[in-house]
Amino acid sequence: MPAFNLPDPTDDPLLNLIGRFRADKRDNKIDLGVGVYRNDQGNTPVLAAVKSAEAVLFEAQDSKSYLGLTGDTEFVDSFGRLIFGEQAQRTIAGAQTPGGSGALRLAAELYKTAYPDNTLWIGLPTWPNHMPLTEAAGVNTRTYPYFSLEQQAVLFDDMRQHLSGAVPGDAVLLHGCCHNPTGADLSEDQWQQLADLLAETELIPIIDLAYHGLGRGLQQDLAGTRTIIQRCPQTLLAASCSKNFGMYRDRVGAVYMAADDALASRAQAFFGHLARRIYSMPPDHGAAVVKLILTDENLTHEWQSELNTMVLRINTLRDAIASAGSALGLDFVGQQHGMFSLLPLNPAQVESMIEEHGVYMAGDGRINIAGCQLSQVDRFIAALEAVGFQR
Ligand code: LMR
Repeated sequence: MPAFNLPDPTDDPLLNLIGRFRADKRDNKIDLGVGVYRNDQGNTPVLAAVKSAEAVLFEAQDSKSYLGLTGDTEFVDSFGRLIFGEQAQRTIAGAQTPGGSGALRLAAELYKTAYPDNTLWIGLPTWPNHMPLTEAAGVNTRTYPYFSLEQQAVLFDDMRQHLSGAVPGDAVLLHGCCHNPTGADLSEDQWQQLADLLAETELIPIIDLAYHGLGRGLQQDLAGTRTIIQRCPQTLLAASCSKNFGMYRDRVGAVYMAADDALASRAQAFFGHLARRIYSMPPDHGAAVVKLILTDENLTHEWQSELNTMVLRINTLRDAIASAGSALGLDFVGQQHGMFSLLPLNPAQVESMIEEHGVYMAGDGRINIAGCQLSQVDRFIAALEAVGFQR
């Protein structure tokens, strides 16, 4: 029999950190690795709103029979209303997916089917799985510069200049808010300018929305997405409930397409067709929970106040790191948003942060602010100083 020839799989650098952190026996280790929210005790508890909804679901659910290829329509609609606000008046196709990654995959597959010879432009740096995930769907990719590590700022002019090399029908991947890995988002004015540019040059936005509510609050975090949808005739959006509902392992997400009636209805049918060929149907439990939360006023209120607690903690930590690390030039951390900031550290410095100081972070120097406890800030700054961090 010919050899069962399997090449070595590429390691996922972020997910590897989980195992490495767990295996570390030091009790003063600090986990700034994978993008998971932790409270000041270092835990990622199930939200109270989620627990309440799960209790209701436990009593009320009377069947686990199939729902359909695009999942729970009420979940898709209620999550859509939350995201799109007034833009929900637009025709928007939507399907429930296994997490935000499942949504990205369906968006990439849909785009690839419609525009097989075009290119998806991805801003760098980005979430390390953006490129592998979209390329696995057969999409051609190119990159554009998004962020200057040195200046800790968005390179908006460079971004626009690079996108002038795109042709009509090309797509542009955007982070809706709380940019991963930099924490540097576009300003309101830049979103507007970008929306104009995309509409005028007939480029298709594909928005990855995974951290809404964890930057400046829900409405502000969604403003950029809404600006794009208002201006661009065809927008794809991959949205996740992993972080803001704390539903990581339940894999809750949805893919949407805002378009004219005819295209939206084709996209709606196509989402189901694509899902069937990849995983058939999304898992139900997490989406059923989120639907209950979003369709019950008290639960919505409870969830929003828990989300506010999370964002407040992240922003308090940002301020604490910026102020304790001011002499090292860390002031920028206080101006960025969401869970991440990207520190100018080389791989050897990151390795010594992990090995010598027990401070875990992604290999590119990304830190998950939400993984830090207030009492650990000084030790984190001291470790940075010890490995020679200076901006
Ligand atoms: C992250 O960026 O750390 C998270 O989105 C987790 C993941 O799946 O990579």
